Amino acid sequence: MTMLNSDKNPVEKSTGFFAPTEATLCDLQVVLLYTMNRKRKDSQKKLSHLHTCEMEKFIVEYLAVYDCIQLSRKELDTIYIRRLQIHRLRERNGVTMKAYREMNREELLSLKEELDKQFADAKGKGLKLDMSRGKPGLEQLDMTMDIMDVLDSKTDMRNEEGADTRNYGLMTGISEARHLMSDMMGGIPAENVIVYGNSSLSIMYDTISRCVTHGVMGSTPWCKLDHVKFLCPAPGYDRHFAITELFGIEMITIPMTPAGPDMDLVEKYVSEDPAVKGIWCVPKYSNPQGYTYSDETVRRFAALKPAAKDFRIYWDNAYSIHDLYDDNKDELLEILSECEKAGNPDMVYEFSSLSKVTFSGAGIAAFASSKANVEETKKFMSIMTIGYDKINQLRHVRYFKNAEGLKAHMQKHAAILRPKFEAVLGILDKELGGLGIGEWTKPLGGYFISFEAMEGCAKAIVAKCREAGVVMTGAGATFPYGKDPKDSNIRIAPTFPNAQELEAAAELFVLCVKLVSVEKLLAA
Ligand SMILES: Cc1ncc(COP(=O)(O)O)c(C=O)c1O
Repeated sequence: MTMLNSDKNPVEKSTGFFAPTEATLCDLQVVLLYTMNRKRKDSQKKLSHLHTCEMEKFIVEYLAVYDCIQLSRKELDTIYIRRLQIHRLRERNGVTMKAYREMNREELLSLKEELDKQFADAKGKGLKLDMSRGKPGLEQLDMTMDIMDVLDSKTDMRNEEGADTRNYGLMTGISEARHLMSDMMGGIPAENVIVYGNSSLSIMYDTISRCVTHGVMGSTPWCKLDHVKFLCPAPGYDRHFAITELFGIEMITIPMTPAGPDMDLVEKYVSEDPAVKGIWCVPKYSNPQGYTYSDETVRRFAALKPAAKDFRIYWDNAYSIHDLYDDNKDELLEILSECEKAGNPDMVYEFSSLSKVTFSGAGIAAFASSKANVEETKKFMSIMTIGYDKINQLRHVRYFKNAEGLKAHMQKHAAILRPKFEAVLGILDKELGGLGIGEWTKPLGGYFISFEAMEGCAKAIVAKCREAGVVMTGAGATFPYGKDPKDSNIRIAPTFPNAQELEAAAELFVLCVKLVSVEKLLAA
């Protein structure tokens, strides 16, 4: 029996349990499924999409719980036979693992026939699933329900400065909320932070609106200029682009790289064109690629020499603490202090919120910038409102207490989100790996996975998914004006569906990718 060997591998060493010498995914899967099946029928789980290392970890954990299982010779033989069956099945399906571009017309036609059948079956299931918006799932929302118990009719509603949060006042937010948000944004001094209401997007909208009507620190209001332009790293966040489009600002697409926007282009536009007034940035776990700007990128941003004195970087730090892995996370350089060091203290407007920490649309949102920018913002705020919802601010600070409390809460989110990301990535790897019909990002945090289909296929894939009952973000949405020049980017949002729905949605997605890609190649 080749899978048994006296040379112990790590699984065997740590568990005393026999383990295959070549710890292939297939072996481990079969062993695990078999043992789980034998031990506890209800714990059967489809594990085909777990990565090998996770599979090993899972086995170790599983065996720690259910004791080491001694398998009899007969049982080992059964596992071996099953393994052979899987191996043969893979060989038989070898044609589908071949890169699509290497297939001849006959192979493509027969593959299309098979995929058409699978699609008809999938359609018949009457799915009604949504992988379009980056919303927290039910489990995440339920997990946070105890925040509702923090305040009641007996609560002392005064904040740490003794101010009554039930009344008007404290325009820039209660001090403990300013501290909490300053920690969340990487340790910015709390006096540089203003805590608003429930939505960071609405602060961004207000900020742009104010620049259009009143200008920035005494410069000409944008509405009086013939040309106002914004740089838009893409793929990016569709709602950023919607704001700039609404105000008639010309959007210039800047390609994204894993280290952030193409900085050569950014520097060129910003230093040469005084009509360029801003750039949208999601610097950590970017929407949708999950990329984090490198230190070099942040420093190049801080050192920009804008031709327009009212140029600002719109730094939407929405996912600053949204790591999926405790021991493998991206780090982002704090930009306000970098700008100050580079002699550009006023060049950044930073935004963030707790929308994906507590409740979406019912968290607290913050703006951070230089002292001068904060002072200017306050002048406008005082016309607009007599104070935001400080009771919600109090609820949040009493719930989290401090940065450590926030961190512990985010670890609970990560425990829910990690398997969802891994499930989708596993299905993408398993079903599309090696076929040459798509590429995808593997983020360490945030809310999205970005998929690059073959050129000219994204719209058709999204339409096919919809036809069979799975809603994806509209193709093109991740680009200015909703126009993806290559028609290839699709944003995948794995957070909202439950595990079962997510698997069904991802399986359908990969089927649609295959089908549309085959059709594209046949039409070429
Ligand atoms: C990059 C980014 N910024 C802002 C938001 C919205 O934040 P808020 O709920 O604070 O308005 C989202 C929501 O998906 C987002 O992805």
